[in-house]
Amino acid sequence: MFIKQALLASAFCVIGVTALASERPAPLPKIPDAPTAYPVGELGRMVKLGEEIIYNTNTHELTKDLVGNDLNCSNCHLDGGKEPTLGTFIGTATSFPAYSAREKTVQTLQNRINNCFMRSMNGKRPIIDTEASIAMATYVTWLSTGLPVTQNAKKPVNPFFTDVWWGKNWTVPMLKAATHKNYKSGEKLYAEKCQDCHQADGQGLQAEDMKFPPVWGDRSYNTGAGLSKPEKLPTWLLYNMPLGDPNLTKQQAIDLAIYINAQPRPEFDLNKALFPREKMGVYNSKVLTEKHTVRSNFAKWGLNVDELRGDQKIAAQ
Ligand code: HEC
Ligand code: HEC
Repeated sequence: MFIKQALLASAFCVIGVTALASERPAPLPKIPDAPTAYPVGELGRMVKLGEEIIYNTNTHELTKDLVGNDLNCSNCHLDGGKEPTLGTFIGTATSFPAYSAREKTVQTLQNRINNCFMRSMNGKRPIIDTEASIAMATYVTWLSTGLPVTQNAKKPVNPFFTDVWWGKNWTVPMLKAATHKNYKSGEKLYAEKCQDCHQADGQGLQAEDMKFPPVWGDRSYNTGAGLSKPEKLPTWLLYNMPLGDPNLTKQQAIDLAIYINAQPRPEFDLNKALFPREKMGVYNSKVLTEKHTVRSNFAKWGLNVDELRGDQKIAAQ
């Protein structure tokens, strides 16, 4: 009786996982249109300045020295955060100030933007009172014009995506079951669906007339970034890539995330991303040391990156 039940349960489970794996994600909640009219006067100037920085973060006079890779905010927050897809800034400002378990403090929108500078941009935290920091927050806030404030007591996340981001319920079980086969499948999928733009070596293209951002290596996001986490990248991919025609199944997104995030990239060490205190002012966090490597991002889920890759090419730490 017990064995029968266990068999039934495991058969059910296998079917469950297979059905899930071939699925496309549920549609996103309806995201309102971005406002079109800029505010008048100095406020309007700051919204436009923030917008310009979000699209040109690594070349803009006010932020280029704070960015440590070839990315701009708009490479992940598509169309400067105006695209109604996962990563939009429409709605974001309504969540803030919000509690963040990572920093164990209540974070302002400027604090949250700074976290993408340290991690996704592999750079330094802009000083809160500077024109660049205020301009970006002004632009992101403008994109929530007319939406109700919903301050989030659990996480600093756009309210439209509270149940969407990371899809932890489905990514973690699929990830934990991953083997070298998934890595090889990710490699093949990358060649078929991604490398025309991001290139075989993952470094993208930085030509004057054609820009594709790097997806791994020294010029990409670091190991502290949301997208560097193999349990998080799949959800973003499902809604956003291939650019213009997102069509991956959940299993394909998992395999690609394993392949991409098992490549080398800059290592995140919080203390290297902070300016000295006398220059930066107070860093709003109770967590003052944090380090991640490609290896540790997989080890968190009981996975060994050497076994996944089938070689020993990721530095041992
Ligand atoms: C490599 C991709 C990437 C880049 C580049 C990037 N971000 Fe993000 N950003 C993310 C991801 C992924 C999240 C959500 C996940 C999380 O909280 O870890 C996020 C979350 C945010 C949030 C929190 C709000 C929300 O909607 O969840 C803000 C604000 C933000 N980013 C601003 C910026 C700004 C400003 C820049 C440029 C300085 C930037 N990001 C660059 C990937 C990126
Ligand atoms: C048609 C070209 C194209 C294809 C195909 C494509 N991408 Fe992208 N991808 C882009 C562009 C362009 C951006 C930046 C978006 C922007 O700035 O508007 C981007 C952004 C990204 C980012 C976030 C920024 C970064 O560099 O880390 C990731 C991750 C990514 N793509 C992964 C993929 C994966 C995986 C595939 C295949 C399933 C894929 N892309 C297919 C063009 C493409």
